[in-house]
Amino acid sequence: MEQQWPSARVAILFSRTEPSVSLGAMSLPRYRPYEATAADFQIGLKPMDKSQWLDLNGYASYLPQKRARLAADSQRYYRSLPSSLAAQGELLQAVTAHLLEHHGAEFASDGRRLTCRIDGVTHDLEAAQEPLLTLSQFIVEDFVILQEEAGKIVITAAANPYTSSGRIIASVGGGIPWAHEPVPGLNDKLGPRIDRILVNVREGVPAERFNWLVTAIGALLFPADSHAANAAASAEMARILADDPGRCGELLFIRAERQTLLRLPQTGAVAFSIHTYSDPLSSIARHRESLTGMAAALASYSPERLGYSAMTGLRDPVIRWIEQQLAELADPLPA
Ligand code: HEM
Repeated sequence: MEQQWPSARVAILFSRTEPSVSLGAMSLPRYRPYEATAADFQIGLKPMDKSQWLDLNGYASYLPQKRARLAADSQRYYRSLPSSLAAQGELLQAVTAHLLEHHGAEFASDGRRLTCRIDGVTHDLEAAQEPLLTLSQFIVEDFVILQEEAGKIVITAAANPYTSSGRIIASVGGGIPWAHEPVPGLNDKLGPRIDRILVNVREGVPAERFNWLVTAIGALLFPADSHAANAAASAEMARILADDPGRCGELLFIRAERQTLLRLPQTGAVAFSIHTYSDPLSSIARHRESLTGMAAALASYSPERLGYSAMTGLRDPVIRWIEQQLAELADPLPA
C-alpha cells in the first residue's frame, strides 16, 4: 500500500540535524539557489571547480540510510542497461581517484579496496556487482549516466535513492525529454537547449546547477511513493499554515539539489550527479538575500509550476512568513 504522511507531526518525524554553513549564531543552508531564481525554469548551469565535484556533507548520518534503501529495494532506486557497464567502470575509477586526491584525510586505498575513515567501512572496488552500485556505497551523491546512442542522448544507468518522483529510474533506456515530460512546460521552454547542453559538456569542464523546493518533509530520503507522499504532506501542512503562517519556519524545509555534469574521457559518457540538502526554512530567517529571493521566485511561479512541486498551498503562507521575517530584520535593535 502507498504510504501517507498525515498530520503536523510530519515535520518532526522528518526533521534533520545537519545545517551546513554557520554564520554567527545562524546556520545557513550550504547552497541557496533561490537567491538567484528568476523564472519558472532556469538552466542555471555554471562551471564547477573540479575539486568540489563530490561533497561529503552529511556522510556519517546519510550513508547508512542510502545503503539500506539500495539493499532493501534496488528495483525502485537502481536501474541500468548493459551498454552502460564500461561507463560505470570509468565512473567508479573517477570517483575513487577524486576521493583520494581531494578527500585524502577521509579515504585511503590499496588499489583493490577503499576505506572510509568517516565511518570505518572498507569497500571492495572489484565487488561482484555493477560498478555504479559499488560506488553508491561510499558517496553521498546519486549518479545518472548519459550516453549518445544513434545520435540521441539515452539515460543508460541511474542510482537514485534521493528521488522525489521516481522519474529518473523510470527513464533508464529513454531520453531527457521523456524524463522531463511530467514537469509542465519544461520541454516546450527549455527542451532543445537542455539537449544541446548535454551534448556539449566538454571534457575537463564540469558544470553544476541547482533545483530547490519548499516541502513539509525534512528527510533526505522521501517515502517510497515519493511524489504522492510529498503532495499529501504539503497539502496537510498548508491547511495548518493558512491560519498560522508564523509557524512556516519551524514546520517547513528547503530541499535543494546540487547537480553536476562531467564528461568521462574514455567512454565519452556524461556523469550527472545529484546531492540533496534539506534545511529547516527557519535557517534563512535572518538572511535578507535568501528571504527576498525566495519570495520573488515563489511569487513569480505559475500555478502549474507550483502544482508540480506540491507548493500550491504553501506559497502564500511562506510569503507571509518571509514578510514577517523581513519586517523583524528592519526593526531597530531594542536599546
Ligand atoms: C542541463 C541539464 C538539465 C537541466 C537544465 C534540467 C532542468 C530541469 C528543470 C528546470 C526541472 C524542473 C524542476 C525544478 O526547477 O525544480 C527539472 C526537473 C527534472 N529533471 Fe532535469 N535538467 C537537466 C538534466 C537532467 C537530467 C540529466 C536528468 C536525468 C534523468 C533530469 C531529470 C529530471 C527530472 C526527473 C525532473 C523532475 C524532478 C522530479 O520530479 O524528480 N534532468 N530539470
